[in-house]
Amino acid sequence: MDRLTLITACIPPCRRLIDIGSDHATVPLSLLRNGTCEGVLITDINEGPIEVARLRVEAAGFTYACRFLQTDGLDDVDPVEGDVLLISGLGGENIARIIERGIDKLSLFKRLILQPQTKENKLRETINRLPLSLLDEIVAVEDRRLYVVMICDFSKNAADDPISEIQIEFGPKIMERIGSLLRISSRKTENCADARTALKRLSADDAIVPIDRSRIAYVQSKYDKIARRARYHQRDRQLLESFDRWIFNHI
Ligand SMILES: C[S@@+](CC[C@H](N)C(=O)[O-])C[C@H]1O[C@@H](n2cnc3c(N)ncnc32)[C@H](O)[C@@H]1O
Repeated sequence: MDRLTLITACIPPCRRLIDIGSDHATVPLSLLRNGTCEGVLITDINEGPIEVARLRVEAAGFTYACRFLQTDGLDDVDPVEGDVLLISGLGGENIARIIERGIDKLSLFKRLILQPQTKENKLRETINRLPLSLLDEIVAVEDRRLYVVMICDFSKNAADDPISEIQIEFGPKIMERIGSLLRISSRKTENCADARTALKRLSADDAIVPIDRSRIAYVQSKYDKIARRARYHQRDRQLLESFDRWIFNHI
C-alpha cells in the first residue's frame, strides 16, 4: 500500500481531523470523500502550502468542512477543535519537537497518527518519554521506499517498560509482530545461521500477508543500514549483536 493510502486507512472515524503540515491536503480530501471525518483543520507553517490546500479543497467542493490555519506545529491549534491528530510527511525530529512542545494539548485526541519521513528512532524515543502509548506501527511501501506509520494514543500503562535500544531502532510494535511470526514459522527458520537468513526465509513464507512482509522488509533494511555503519561504530556492532540474539530467542 502506498504512503498516503495507508495513512488514510489508519484514521479512525472522527468528528474533526487536525492535519499538521497538510501541504496538498490529499489525506483530508480522501477522508472527507469517504465520510471518515466530518471536518478538517488544515494547518501548515508556510503560506504557500495553505493556499494550495485551500484551492484543492475548494475545487473538490469541501470548503464548508475545512478551516485553514498557518502555524508552527500545534502552537495556535485549539485541541477542542479536533479529536484525531495527524502529522505526516515531516522529519522524525520535527514531529518529535511538535508533540513535545504541544504535550499539554495531546490528551484531548483519541488517536495520534504520526508518519516520519526520517529518523523514526528519534520519534520513538520521544513517544516513549511522553505519556503516549505506541499502539501499532504499519509500514507503507512506495517506489521501493519504506515509511512507518505510528498509531498512538494519550495513555501510559504503569506496566509499560522503557523501550530498549533495539526497539528504538527497529520499532517495538514491528518487533512484537515479527517475534510472533518467527514463532509461528519456526519450522521454516530453524537452523538459520544468522538473523539476515532467518528474516529472508520468513519473508519467503507463503503464509505471510503483505502488511507483515512490509514490516519484515523494514527490519531487513534497518539491519543492513546498521550493518554498513557497524564497521566504524561499536554501538552499531552492539545493536546488531542484540538484534541477532533477539532473533535467535524467537526461532
Ligand atoms: C512533505 S510535506 C507533507 C505533506 C503531507 N502531510 C504528507 O504527508 O504528504 C511537509 C509539509 O509540512 C510543513 N511543515 C514543516 N514543518 C512544519 C511545522 N513545524 N508545522 C507545520 N507545518 C510544517 C511544510 O511546510 C510542508 O508543507
